[in-house]
Amino acid sequence: MIKPHGSDILLPRIVEDGSSRKEILESSKNMKSIKICSAAASNLVMLGAGYFTPLEGFMDKEDVLSVANNMKIKNDLFWPTPVMNLVKEDPGISVGEEVALIDPNMSNENVIAVQKINNVEHLTPDDVDLIVEKTFGTKDPEHPGVKTMYEQGNYLISGPVKVLNYSYFEEEFSSTFRTAVQIRQDIEAKGLNNVVAFQTRNPMHRAHEELCRMAAEQVDADGILIHMLLGKLKPGDIPADVRDAAIRTMVKHYFPENFVMITGYGFDMLYAGPREALLHALFRQNCGCNYLIVGRDHAGVGDYYGAFDAQEIFGQIPDNALEIKIFNADHTAYSKKLNKVVMMKDVTDHTKDDFVILSGTKVREMLSNGESLPEEFARPEVAEVLMKHYMEK
Ligand code: ADX
Repeated sequence: MIKPHGSDILLPRIVEDGSSRKEILESSKNMKSIKICSAAASNLVMLGAGYFTPLEGFMDKEDVLSVANNMKIKNDLFWPTPVMNLVKEDPGISVGEEVALIDPNMSNENVIAVQKINNVEHLTPDDVDLIVEKTFGTKDPEHPGVKTMYEQGNYLISGPVKVLNYSYFEEEFSSTFRTAVQIRQDIEAKGLNNVVAFQTRNPMHRAHEELCRMAAEQVDADGILIHMLLGKLKPGDIPADVRDAAIRTMVKHYFPENFVMITGYGFDMLYAGPREALLHALFRQNCGCNYLIVGRDHAGVGDYYGAFDAQEIFGQIPDNALEIKIFNADHTAYSKKLNKVVMMKDVTDHTKDDFVILSGTKVREMLSNGESLPEEFARPEVAEVLMKHYMEK
């Protein structure tokens, strides 16, 4: 089986044992508590679940700058995006101290983790600009990921963590949220040797469905991992529970039984395009997948990235940076001429009018107006789930 990133075994930072967890929770009452931001909380969920193997916790300034500039941490290990706990005010804590991290996404002052303080460093505005520019390829505050990062503050709290729970993900998405440990075990138990992963933050339309089918066929996969983002998105994106229902409906009707694993992970979307695609590949390797599908404008937003920048970046990293391979997909759409979904590069005789292409905005507009989506774009069963959501809104 493919090895986890930079380690022979997965290194989930969750405290598994119930009594140890209770003890830590009890002692956390005597620690200083810090309310963290949602991005930091979602980093903790990823660290806890083993997706960020082999990281021990939050990066310090040296690592953050090294990741931003050179995509590697101190021991030269490849890492594409900073994993930070940033706060707005000097937390007044000392090196070596342990602090309780409070989850901003739960109402009950949930202690999501405790962190040992390796350092508290101040990032200058120039440092933050550099991190933002390198990670997102832009400093435009209109970019949703850039906006979120600028709002996080300038005090960087680094050090290892002990994660105590998975925030709201386990309860809210009990049948879909899975840790990297669970997925790896599942792949092993099923005896699969060549699994292709599909990242998504959308309900799966026909292009997505066909992309999975084409990739599985072409790499001769013995399973598909649909791995949907369950964390925070920008306003207007379709909520996770609706996407989940749409995806389950699509898989039930259109894929052979037991070929597809429907799963999700608890991370807030960065919208970092190419850099996020690298992170996506890294944590699918940790799940035990052999391929990740990377299509058009993967993890992108607006016009910030070229349609295939997220594929090209894999050619710019060292060969041994990751073990997982990429399935590069061309722009996929329904051909009215051929009555099927095709990769656009394969049909050179087609003009724009020969395809059914709808933008996300157009789809949402149609759904809000109670209009049904064309069958060439979305399966009727999927369209029904989406329409129901929009009618109830
Ligand atoms: S993402 O932000 O999670 O990447 P989305 O859920 O829309 O967004 O896409 C999931 C995957 O499908 C990505 O790899 C994306 O590049 C790919 N994809 C989506 N639509 C198309 C399309 N029409 N043609 C080719 N690839 C696509």
